[in-house]
Amino acid sequence: MTEKELRALLADMSLEEKLGEMTQLSPNFFGTEESVDLTGPMQQMNLKPEDVPLLGSTLNAFGAEKIIEMQKHHMELQPHHIPMLFMADVIHGLKTIYPIPLAMGSSFNTDLMEEAAAMAAREAAATGVQLTFSPMADLVRDPRWGRVMESPGEDPLLIARMTEATVKGYQGEDVSAPDRIASCFKHFGGYGAAEGGRDYNTVDVSDGMLREFYLDGYKAAVDAGAAMGMTSFNTIDRIPATGSQKLYRKILRDEWGFDGVAITDFDAVNEMIPHGLAADGKEAAKYALKAGVDIEMMSTHILNYGKELVRSGEIDEKLIDEAVWRILKLKNKLGLFENPFKGADPEKEKELHQCAAHMALAREISARCVVLLKNEGKILPLKKGAKVGLAGPFANSLSVLGGWSIIAASGSTTLLQGLTEHGAEVKMAMTEELKPMQMGFFDVSDQTAELETLADCDVVIAAVGEHPDDTGESASRTILRLSHNQEKMLERLHDMGKKVVAVIFSGRPLEIRPVLPFCDAVVQAWFLGSEAGPAIGDVLFGDVNPSARLSMSFPQTVGQVPVYYNHMNTGRPVVGKPHRYVSCYLDCPNEPLFPFGYGLSYSEYHYQNLKVEKTEGGLPLKVSVEVENTSDVAGRETVQLYIHDVAASVVRPVKELKDFTQIDLAPGEKKTVTFAVTTEMLSFWNNEAFVFEHGDFEIMVGHSSDEVLTEKVTL
Ligand code: BGC
Repeated sequence: MTEKELRALLADMSLEEKLGEMTQLSPNFFGTEESVDLTGPMQQMNLKPEDVPLLGSTLNAFGAEKIIEMQKHHMELQPHHIPMLFMADVIHGLKTIYPIPLAMGSSFNTDLMEEAAAMAAREAAATGVQLTFSPMADLVRDPRWGRVMESPGEDPLLIARMTEATVKGYQGEDVSAPDRIASCFKHFGGYGAAEGGRDYNTVDVSDGMLREFYLDGYKAAVDAGAAMGMTSFNTIDRIPATGSQKLYRKILRDEWGFDGVAITDFDAVNEMIPHGLAADGKEAAKYALKAGVDIEMMSTHILNYGKELVRSGEIDEKLIDEAVWRILKLKNKLGLFENPFKGADPEKEKELHQCAAHMALAREISARCVVLLKNEGKILPLKKGAKVGLAGPFANSLSVLGGWSIIAASGSTTLLQGLTEHGAEVKMAMTEELKPMQMGFFDVSDQTAELETLADCDVVIAAVGEHPDDTGESASRTILRLSHNQEKMLERLHDMGKKVVAVIFSGRPLEIRPVLPFCDAVVQAWFLGSEAGPAIGDVLFGDVNPSARLSMSFPQTVGQVPVYYNHMNTGRPVVGKPHRYVSCYLDCPNEPLFPFGYGLSYSEYHYQNLKVEKTEGGLPLKVSVEVENTSDVAGRETVQLYIHDVAASVVRPVKELKDFTQIDLAPGEKKTVTFAVTTEMLSFWNNEAFVFEHGDFEIMVGHSSDEVLTEKVTL
């Protein structure tokens, strides 16, 4: 449609129609039958039968045939035959599931992220989905929060890069193409800073924290052209984000120039009532409209009270028109007025879902997300033909996808299959899967006696972790240790004198310090998706040399949380040994168990000759370093650049990641890696604007946030 035609359409729409466009309800509210079922939640929403054909979008409908049918039916009844928009949570793949976002962050590989998202787009588009509620760009520092699994991690730059790649992967050059889907970043803003790691809880961060840490991911999505942004459940400055004019009008629209659609999170308009901002539904609708919400998801206050608010003059109809204009523009950009079914195609769906090419890609990506945390005595990689013992709840489990794998019920192959594929002779014991013991506690029964049968194995792989239902939305926890009998199992194997390789399945950093002494090697496998088993096998047997790095610090104990690498210093930092009256714990180091950026490899890398050279005028700086593979194993090294501003008008983090790259090095090979440090990288929010201040800077390059070479420079 031309802009003129679209404008004419908007001008011809009734107010009721416009309010319907601004409302999103789940498929059960539509029904593909002629009659609409008005029972249950519909009544609670005060939805009248005549409202249903006016609804502008739905969420989480899947299946090409079903979606084509729903769309046809809907368009017949919609007064202007406006197609509805099919949105869904396609978070890390649709049928071919790739690793959870926290694991994808660990890959430090934006190309793979983009390829993964493009694969998800192909599968989702064929099924009829036109927009995904992804990426989640929430910065996370607290592993108690179950949703850390949905974030690329604790670092603003890593999140921004991953977010940008994800948006590009979904949308491509032309989002109307049949194999592309629109992208919705979320949850704007600051949702990851929920107090105490308890989901939906209050967020209270300073403007500086917000500007320099929490907002970067969303901004990257906007800059990458994301079609939509979603509000968050939390408060910001004591105002629920869904009603925040500061976030939506000032920052998103005025400062960042976002002209896409703003959707609320599920029921978030309504939740402004229990938050205590709005006295009732009418007031909630008013707050949302004033803030700049375009679509209300799963509550109907705008639909129910919009007319009254316009008639009374409390809301200018211009606001409604602006919102509907943005929605229509998005539908038009997706090409829905020409082809309301977009990529929906039952044949393509069958052909693409979990096709060999997608599964191969998932396997490659998954192996690149595995972080090697410990490898004492170089016990890994395993020797081909080794006699392998396999124990633990994830030994032969298909529950390896991680949350939000909505229509892909389980993995395709287990770790056992992944190992046998490599020719391993595997003996198993104590492989019962995790089951709920009481609210919030999953465990296995104590079958440690069985472990004796593994006595003649060369090495035992202990596939341990947390139940996938223990991570994700509304899965906050205060205890992050492995379950009792899993810890007992690891101890028993160690006492038996076995070489133990722990493979950890989790959606968050767990507290593994208590079991670390029992393990010779530790492999952080997250939830890797459809091809988890084979991919882990590839790493364990050395077909893939690990290159992933932690996207989030692992705490020594949950009592340290939040613990993250890019913290500020204090006036009393620990220098040398901790003692009284410095900023430290009496019973635990300040440092995490494993910091952000950490991860081992089967190769060894040596860094030398870090050079920092000024260009004419000082900036950008040319930074170079030599990286040598001193081992006899080919590897991929993840080289990280950090900076520290020594003194500034507001205090600066001790370290900030500013760039990273991956290089392949043959045995004995040496490469020079160069980075440019720009003015922008050295700028910060001085509580009013982003500024650069002259002074001393430390430029650091290395293998991990805690293993760098440092050079000082005065600018
Ligand atoms: C979640 C969102 C999700 C939405 C729709 C909410 O509960 O917070 O991330 O996109 O539901 O399913």
